Amino acid sequence: MGTGFFTSVDDVSAKLAGAGYLASTAVATTVFLADRLGKPLLVEGPAGVGKTELAKAVAQVSGSRLVRLQCYEGIDEARALYEWNHAKQLLRITAGRDETWEQARTDIFGEEFLLRRPLLTAISSAEPTVLLIDETDKADMEVEGLLLEVLGDFQVTVPELGTITATRPPFAVLTSNATRELSEALRRRCLFLHIDFPDEELERDIVRLKVPGIDAALADSVVRVIAALRAMDLRKLPSVAETIDWARTLLALGASTLDERVVRESLGVVLKHQDDIAKAGAGLQLEQVLDAS
Ligand SMILES: Nc1ncnc2c1ncn2[C@@H]1O[C@H](COP(=O)(O)OP(=O)(O)O)[C@@H](O)[C@H]1O
Ligand SMILES: [Mg+2]
Repeated sequence: MGTGFFTSVDDVSAKLAGAGYLASTAVATTVFLADRLGKPLLVEGPAGVGKTELAKAVAQVSGSRLVRLQCYEGIDEARALYEWNHAKQLLRITAGRDETWEQARTDIFGEEFLLRRPLLTAISSAEPTVLLIDETDKADMEVEGLLLEVLGDFQVTVPELGTITATRPPFAVLTSNATRELSEALRRRCLFLHIDFPDEELERDIVRLKVPGIDAALADSVVRVIAALRAMDLRKLPSVAETIDWARTLLALGASTLDERVVRESLGVVLKHQDDIAKAGAGLQLEQVLDAS
């Protein structure tokens, strides 16, 4: 059972770090268990905390192929699983005019007319595969039934072809921003991992890893201000992606410390709504935030 990518929780942490992903103990532990048990991993949390990146990093460090199903409103079986290549089927029928319909039908429902979409691609892959089902909460409820079926026994039935069973089940990662509740049935099938904004220490490490050349004290200030902003009642809290962008911006501006002016001039990198910028402008006690130690 399991994909067998990792030998221990520490092995997960070390390998992911090598690929530029810094995992908290909770993340590393759950990834290890998903790998061991061969269970899909459901990762929930706000936007920009590294859910998608985690799946990519697991693929990278395990030498797996990454197959990604990006969910969206209205995605259906034809886009997620497979569909028949109607244009090609039609061409084939027109080309073989003198054969009987029976013959033609056997031909056009063969493998070469099948368009494999991500779920089928991942199931039928012979190489190690990470299946990323990204932003599952954006898909309609009905798609969850399909996911359950596929993730349940890692097999897919194509009526014209028969049942295709994974010889090598993929390491499946489902992500969700929790814009709606996923079904109990789907949750039950998966190992659950909630990723929240990282604590200050982890976020500082992420900044220093992603923005080499940044001064340690500046990285520290950035992370503190971000934490203070996250404690405010904003429409959109800054994510890790924004922390990194901000650190990069400050480096580009040649700022060596944070002061009121620098913060005001660069805050648009961090906050993306005018009312949030106004709130931060009025409520952020910069000196207090930077002094606290
Ligand atoms: N633990 C982490 N280690 C390294 N980088 C991270 C981490 N968490 C977030 N990031 C950074 O944040 C960015 C956004 O992450 P992403 O996976 O796109 O977020 P999500 O899918 O949760 O919305 C990534 O490109 C990555 O650079
Ligand atoms: Mg994402």
